Amino acid sequence: MYLRATVLCENSVFGNQGAFAEHGWSVWLETPDKRFLFDTGPGNTLLNNASQFDIPLRDADGILISHHHHDHTGGLLSALRAIRRGPDQPPVPVYAHPDIFKDSFYDRKGNLSFVGLPQKRQVLELAGAEFRLDSEWREIDSGIYMTGEVPRSTDYEFGDQNIMHYGESGEITVDPVRDDQTVVIDTPAGLVVVLGCSHAGLINILNYVCEKTGRTRIHSLFGGTHLGPVGEDQVEKTITALHEFNIDRIGVSHCTGQKVGSRMAHEFGDRFFFCSVGTVVEV
Ligand SMILES: [Fe+2]
Ligand SMILES: [Fe+2]
Repeated sequence: MYLRATVLCENSVFGNQGAFAEHGWSVWLETPDKRFLFDTGPGNTLLNNASQFDIPLRDADGILISHHHHDHTGGLLSALRAIRRGPDQPPVPVYAHPDIFKDSFYDRKGNLSFVGLPQKRQVLELAGAEFRLDSEWREIDSGIYMTGEVPRSTDYEFGDQNIMHYGESGEITVDPVRDDQTVVIDTPAGLVVVLGCSHAGLINILNYVCEKTGRTRIHSLFGGTHLGPVGEDQVEKTITALHEFNIDRIGVSHCTGQKVGSRMAHEFGDRFFFCSVGTVVEV
């Protein structure tokens, strides 16, 4: 085995008694010599589910964060406390984009709710976080990459128009979530592409991953696609474009939503899977 990925937090749970679901995303990534927690969910299910699946959070070599939204970062404090059990322990590297601390909001018919990282930086650092912030593509460990900001190369991936932030002149405006990034693991069987929320656009992400790695064979693509909250035109064009990539297995979760997830299940047949809590992807 080269890689085992276990879904710890997701919007659904199936056939795993004792595990809980909540709107969010977190995956435990194990290679023969490294262990990383990718995203932390909103914070209510991470520790319970890790314990249910015998995931040794304390052995993590670091935490990778896809973007600043609370459904991916809310469990960061409890994850840090689980990994670093006392002040005498070494700090925990947290790999993220500098925008992880920004304020942002979700607009529900004019009502704005805060969707940023719930804890202050200082609180997280006191709990042992050592933030390693970068907006560029980088290699976290041998063969394990974070994309950094993804260039928006398509002309149809407009994203979720209800996610807001403070624009340059201080006004509330649509947030392109530039910090959205994806984890890529280069394995002998092909790339494993683990999405966070895909605010950057699924096809933009795949174009960039293939460009940066020089590889086109994708063993597995899974995670949040954010196709649930976007326009029908984007969904249509993204699914059509997905067929042009060389992908063995496609798993969707979280912000894909049930409607688009069902459609993709129909579209990709045996290559498709749902990434509910407890799903394991092995390479
Ligand atoms: Fe998000
Ligand atoms: Fe999300």
